[in-house]
Amino acid sequence: MQNFDYMTPTRLVFGENAIRKLPEAMAALGRRVLLTYGGGSIKKIGLYDRVRELLKDFEITELPGIQPNPKYDPSVLDGVRLCKEKGIEVILSVGGGSVLDCSKAIAAGACYDGDPWDLISYKVKAKAALPIVDIITLAATGSEYDSGGVISRTETNDKIGYIDPLLYPVCSFLDPRYTFSVSKKQTAAGCADAMNHIMEQYFCEDSTLLNDGFCEAGLKSLMVNARVCLENPEDYRARAEMMFACTLGCNGIYALGNSESGWPMHAIEHALSAYYDITHGEGLAIITPRWMRHILSERTLPRFVKYGVNVFGIDASLPAQEIAEKAIDATYAFFESIGIPMHLREVGIGEERIDEMAHHIAVNEGLENAYVPLSEQDIKSILVASL
Ligand code: NZQ
Ligand code: ZN
Repeated sequence: MQNFDYMTPTRLVFGENAIRKLPEAMAALGRRVLLTYGGGSIKKIGLYDRVRELLKDFEITELPGIQPNPKYDPSVLDGVRLCKEKGIEVILSVGGGSVLDCSKAIAAGACYDGDPWDLISYKVKAKAALPIVDIITLAATGSEYDSGGVISRTETNDKIGYIDPLLYPVCSFLDPRYTFSVSKKQTAAGCADAMNHIMEQYFCEDSTLLNDGFCEAGLKSLMVNARVCLENPEDYRARAEMMFACTLGCNGIYALGNSESGWPMHAIEHALSAYYDITHGEGLAIITPRWMRHILSERTLPRFVKYGVNVFGIDASLPAQEIAEKAIDATYAFFESIGIPMHLREVGIGEERIDEMAHHIAVNEGLENAYVPLSEQDIKSILVASL
């Protein structure tokens, strides 16, 4: 078991009507609020009006229109400018992972005198960040319980995971009812994203029985509950369990004591969504079975056997190679069964820029130390197999 030093300082307020505690949580942080949100889903579900009502005694400045795969320009830059102009004391993010990620970058940029890209690109380490509170409306990224924000810069095709302990939300509100309206596409993509977060931690060199069991339970819970949510979007129990499994996905808790995996599928997918602006979870689902097939070897076989037997219930008495292949097929079949397009071409990605993306990933992501090291040629093979 590996050493670790772990803390998640975020308060989670979970459940029906959780946001009644919003004014109390916000009052401790300041009265001048930057309210960030996306393209309007929070207005359609009545959440915007409820927040404005709850915060009627606060001074609110709004930053609407944050897009999926949030952009440095204009969203992060506009947010930083507003924080400085208005003397913002706390950021309230209401929406999916994109709104929250953007808010995290704004929180750090607001406390820095130079170009916020210096921080996101790790040129300069942030010394401070504004406090962040969020109401998460989409079960997927786990951003509500982690210290990362993923920001895209269109002109350079960069999509950077900016991670800093300063970026943990102070308080995250999770009311599963606010996810009833999430579309089938985003529900499936969210499930694939969270499953992938768990797999990125599960497929590693050194793990424990405890963590493996935790990861396997997380994967099974996501698969069962995503199906229920797709059939009945207003099933509270299923939305709630899915939301919690997603929340735990990215903050490391699934794999405390495991060795590092290098998160190779995320490294590859971030380039796909940087170049083509596709939905993150869909990109991951497409890559996952191809990555698995690419790394299946004598060395990794026991891991795939464990995955196949414990997650998909494949007969443990079958030959190991057969179990592993069935497990990879079952992974593909599950994603396909929840409606995810399983070829890059179906999401608008052809072979034109495969070489360029493989090079970009190899140079910028450093996958030579991943669980199974990946060279530029390996990355290219995985992308070609995903077409
Ligand atoms: O913009 P609005 O109108 O709000 O609509 C959004 C958006 O179109 C909609 N939506 C959100 N909540 C809804 C809803 N529609 C109906 N009802 C609701 N309750 O869903 C669409 C997608 O939203 P987005 O926030 O982009 O989705 P998600 O939460 O999956 O976030 C994806 C982003 O997070 C990054 C991804 O790379 C991507 O940029 N990630 C962040 C991570 C982190 N911070 O830890 C880890 C992940 O691996 C991931 O990379
Ligand atoms: Zn992800």
